Amino acid sequence: MKHIGVIGAGHVGLVTAACFAKMGNFVICADNDIVKIKTLRENQMPFYEPQLENIVKDTVKKGRLVFTSSVNKLVKNSEIIFIAVGTPSTDSGEADLSAIENVIFQIAKVLNSKKQKRTYKLIVEKSTVPVFTGQWVKKSLSILTPTGIEFDVAANPEFLREGAAVNDFMKPDRIVVGVESERAKRILHELYKPLKSPIIFTDIKSAELIKHASNSFLATKISFINAISQICEKCGADIDKVAEGMGYDRRIGMAFLKAGIGYGGSCFPKDIKAFIRLAKRFGISFNLLKEVEKINKQQRVIVIEKALNFLNGSLKNKKICALGASFKPFTDDLRESPAVEVMKMLISKGAKVICYDPVALKNLSRTLPGVLVAQNPYDALKDAELMILLTEWPQFQSLDFKKVKQLMKKPRIIDGRNFLNPQYLKKLGFQYTGIGRKI
Ligand code: UDX
Repeated sequence: MKHIGVIGAGHVGLVTAACFAKMGNFVICADNDIVKIKTLRENQMPFYEPQLENIVKDTVKKGRLVFTSSVNKLVKNSEIIFIAVGTPSTDSGEADLSAIENVIFQIAKVLNSKKQKRTYKLIVEKSTVPVFTGQWVKKSLSILTPTGIEFDVAANPEFLREGAAVNDFMKPDRIVVGVESERAKRILHELYKPLKSPIIFTDIKSAELIKHASNSFLATKISFINAISQICEKCGADIDKVAEGMGYDRRIGMAFLKAGIGYGGSCFPKDIKAFIRLAKRFGISFNLLKEVEKINKQQRVIVIEKALNFLNGSLKNKKICALGASFKPFTDDLRESPAVEVMKMLISKGAKVICYDPVALKNLSRTLPGVLVAQNPYDALKDAELMILLTEWPQFQSLDFKKVKQLMKKPRIIDGRNFLNPQYLKKLGFQYTGIGRKI
């Protein structure tokens, strides 16, 4: 059993803390958001993530997971300190590291106190950070603790996907650990060994780069297939079949070849921006990633063009039902959600948008007050001139489409995620269009 501190109770921090506790460690999780800590102490979750609530409740009950707003308490009681605070984009697109800097100052302050001087600490970056951040952390801690303390810095980027985060943590494809000492390597090896997944040990800079490169590669795959979907539309080929035919090649693989309204979320958009900026600092113009961003934006515009096509060139006062708001299913996260972007564009063109999402409606009303919300999909579809599927929640596949047809003013569907069965819908009398699908 190890004594672990996790600073940051966001998606990465809270999942990390809960899963380490589930593995039998003693974990303290801190966040400077007092409301969030209060919520967690009252046994409630600050966001939706499958399986997480049960793990948090169970490990709290067993005394292996505690929440605090005091970094001081956390540092004093932990041997391994994971930093999982946010690294949002600055206006210029670079990663904003101010939260990390703040945490380092706080850690240094505790380490300078008399009692802590002889206790070794391992400080681990979990947040997605640009290369050289680890070096900066190490240098800063050395300068800020002049009396000399024993510590190591490591980089251990997290690859978990929202909506599947617990599973991704407990059964990762790989664990990346960037270290500079044998001691840090041994500690992190012992910590992760029970997961029985490949552990890639490397230097800190390579570990930092692996995270940015992985996310950028996945986003590139998505934009690539989306560009192909545009060609499919023009020539009458079918993107589902093209992706399948490509994906069987093991060098390519099936994953991340789903065409649609593009990627969003808290990671890809910001990480790609930050990576472009980072490359620029090294004098490299990463035009490939700039194009990836451009294609991603274009996918949302395509939906508006399709809506205009269906509705004779004007969306003014047209009732449009949007199914889904979150950036992908199984999360209530709306950050950089393509669904929200599409709804914004529809509203700006005068449409009356009414949305249903199984878990994200509360967040949606805060984020986009101009949108109407319905408590079930059928209420949202009543008298709609058009349905646009924006997030592929499984329950949208099992809607009673005969009922849907009766409820809608006109049975028209834009499937922004290529998720519904076009043949079946056409048989029922719907007008249907997807993204690059042959119908
Ligand atoms: C991502 C990475 O997968 C994870 O490893 C990283 O650490 C954090 O960022 P996440 O943002 O949770 O995870 O979502 P992910 O499942 O990767 O999807 C990202 C976006 O791409 C979503 O908007 C999704 O709808 C979109 N996507 C994904 C596609 O449009 N097509 C695909 O084929 C796959």
